[in-house]
Amino acid sequence: MGLTLKQVVPWGRSLADYRQMFALTDKDLETSILDCAGGPSSFNAEATAQGTSVISCDPIYQFSVEEIQQRIQDTYPQIIAALEDNGDHFVWDQFSSPHHLGEVRLATMDCFLEDFPQGRAQGRYQTQMLPELPFETSQFNLALCGHLLFSYSQPLDLEFHLNAIRELARVAQEVRIFPIVTNFAGDISPHLSPILEQLPQAGYHLTVETVPYEFQRGGNEMLRVFPPNHYQSPP
Ligand SMILES: C[S@@+](CC[C@H](N)C(=O)[O-])C[C@H]1O[C@@H](n2cnc3c(N)ncnc32)[C@H](O)[C@@H]1O
Repeated sequence: MGLTLKQVVPWGRSLADYRQMFALTDKDLETSILDCAGGPSSFNAEATAQGTSVISCDPIYQFSVEEIQQRIQDTYPQIIAALEDNGDHFVWDQFSSPHHLGEVRLATMDCFLEDFPQGRAQGRYQTQMLPELPFETSQFNLALCGHLLFSYSQPLDLEFHLNAIRELARVAQEVRIFPIVTNFAGDISPHLSPILEQLPQAGYHLTVETVPYEFQRGGNEMLRVFPPNHYQSPP
C-alpha cells in the first residue's frame, strides 16, 4: 500500500460524533454505509452493534492491533501538545481541556481496537485507499469521509480530491464529506471552490450544509455530493 505507520496520525471519533459531523438520521443508519478513511474511529463498531451495515476502509487496516495501539501511544502526547498550542482554533464547549478531549478520544479508539480483529475477519474493515476503491458501482447507499479530504488539503492536491470524490460517488448513491476546512489552520480548503465549480459541470449535485458538530472553530460544514442521475429534490 506504500504507507508506513509513521505517516499515520491515529485519531478517531465515535458514532455520536459521526451523527453530528454528517447529519446522520436514524433512517440513514438503516442503509448500507461506507466509512472511507475510517481509521481508528469507533463508528463501525458502534453502528454494527446496533444493526447498521457498515464497511470501513483505510490503509491503516493493514497493521495489527498492537502496531496501531503503539502508534496511538507514540503520537498521543504530540497531538495533545498541538491542541494546547493552538487552543484558540478550537471550540471547548464539550471538553474542559485538551487532556479531557484526549481521554474521550482514547476511549473511542479502544472501542475500535477491541472490534478490529473480529471486524477485519468479517470484512467490515478493509485495507483500501482513495482515489481508487474496489467496490461495485452504487454498492452503498451512503459514503462518509471524515477528516481526510479538505482536512489534508496541503499534501492532497485538487486532482486527488476530484478523483477521490468521483470515486466515492461511483461506489455510493450519496457522499458526505466533513469538514471542509483544513487541519489546525481551519481555513476553508482552497480545493472547495474549484470542486463546486467543476463537478456540477459533469452532472454531480453538490451542496455545502451546516451541521451540529463544531470542534475546529468554523469547521461546522459538510459537503454533500450526489452522483449524476441520483439527486432527488426534496418533496
Ligand atoms: C484523522 S483519521 C480520520 C478518522 C475518522 N474518519 C474520523 O473522522 O474520526 C484520517 C484517516 O485517513 C486515512 N487515510 C490516509 N490516506 C488515505 C487514503 N488515500 N484513502 C483512505 N484513507 C486514507 C489515515 O490512515 C487515517 O486513518
